Amino acid sequence: MQTLQFPQALQTSQTLQTSHFHEDEAVAKLSKLLALECGMSPEKAEQIYIAALLHDAGKKKLSAELLNKPDKLTPEEFEVMKTHTTFGAEMLRCVEGDLGVMVRKVALYHHERWDSCGYWGKSLSKLPRYVEIVAIADTFTALVSPLRTYKQPWPPKEAIDYIHSQAGSHFSHAMVNIFLQLLRTNDRIAGIYEPLLVVPAIIVTPKNATQGGVRNSRRFRI
Ligand SMILES: [Fe+2]
Ligand SMILES: [Fe+2]
Repeated sequence: MQTLQFPQALQTSQTLQTSHFHEDEAVAKLSKLLALECGMSPEKAEQIYIAALLHDAGKKKLSAELLNKPDKLTPEEFEVMKTHTTFGAEMLRCVEGDLGVMVRKVALYHHERWDSCGYWGKSLSKLPRYVEIVAIADTFTALVSPLRTYKQPWPPKEAIDYIHSQAGSHFSHAMVNIFLQLLRTNDRIAGIYEPLLVVPAIIVTPKNATQGGVRNSRRFRI
């Protein structure tokens, strides 16, 4: 049975020094590394870093009460939550040029999915690749984050297994493979999530072995 070993430091989790962990910054740093892993230029990766940093800008227009609600959102509340994407794109309309196009697309579409079952029903396959990069970085970060009031942080192994299980549905197989490849080979990932992590071993099981076994039903929202 194939197993994937990840860098020593990116291992099982416990919540440590969570005040030092900033979600948007983690999403931005991971997005930049993913862009480079995809073969994008350093200049493009830097733009993606900025777009990822601003992806949830529209949340500033939503109430803290909604954002921090510990219980499941009602359908009405979920509709309001979705508007952080349109608010974000609107707030970023003053950004000019290629970067402006990128930041607005990322703000508007970072909750889309490969299978078109995201916020606005658009497939990631029809959007620029940088949108999927930020979407996968955002999802992983949301899963392991200790800053969500409605859930416990997922241990990284479970979050990685979950991303693995989403190949072909939430994300493309290609992007999931790039994500897994990056985790296997890039020690800088550990630095991004370091405030959350402590050692022991992590083994990501192959997709077939995780189907049905991953905590897909565990609650999270991004
Ligand atoms: Fe978002
Ligand atoms: Fe986010």
